[in-house]
Amino acid sequence: MRILQITDLHLGLEGEDTNGVDVRANFDKILKEVPEHQPDHIVISGDLCFRDGDPNIYSWIKEKLDHLTIPYDLISGNHDNPSMIAKTFAYNGRLKEGELYYTNVIEGEFIIFLDTTTGVVSQKQLNWLKEQLAAHQEELIIFMHHPPLIGGVPFMDSKHYLRNMDEVQAVLTAHPYNLTIFTGHYHVEKTIRYKNLEVNITPSCFFQIDQQSREFKVDHYRVGFRKIEVENKMLRHSVCYL
Ligand SMILES: [Fe+2]
Repeated sequence: MRILQITDLHLGLEGEDTNGVDVRANFDKILKEVPEHQPDHIVISGDLCFRDGDPNIYSWIKEKLDHLTIPYDLISGNHDNPSMIAKTFAYNGRLKEGELYYTNVIEGEFIIFLDTTTGVVSQKQLNWLKEQLAAHQEELIIFMHHPPLIGGVPFMDSKHYLRNMDEVQAVLTAHPYNLTIFTGHYHVEKTIRYKNLEVNITPSCFFQIDQQSREFKVDHYRVGFRKIEVENKMLRHSVCYL
């Protein structure tokens, strides 16, 4: 089973200046590399839009992804609108009272997808997550936009952290098996471990953030994606930069 995770596209409207970065070209370049990795599936883990969710941006992305003819899943980030995503991508069954969270089985792997658009995992979603974990007593993969651990990136940890991290961690660490979590949001490449959790933050398609500065500071503009593979119960993953 091979998934390519692409995250934090931050696409603007056609012709909109996105801080001088041609994010559409970045996304195109990544999509051009996708077939040579022969993935079974693609996951776009949130922040598809530059600032606010927009149906035109979602439609543009859908056209590009459909053209690849590789199955894909999307989650919503804090710069997205889950209802608009659900409408554009015909995910109506996955939208629950305005939140886009669901499970999917990809090449035999049961995978959980969470919605942290509002900067929290809602109580309703946490209850649902508990049920999903209880029903699957095994090592699992989760995709969510925000990392559920402090990432060691001072700017993001102080200003843009998952606000109910303690509650989310309590649910996740109660699972008696390892959970491998893939996120975006922080615009860095990083792996953090805590108890049974391995949280992997995948770099953005926009720019990467300095991992020391307390203020906003760009580290570099190399963009990439993460390749995630499960073979004979062994999970491995790595970031590929363009
Ligand atoms: Fe984000």
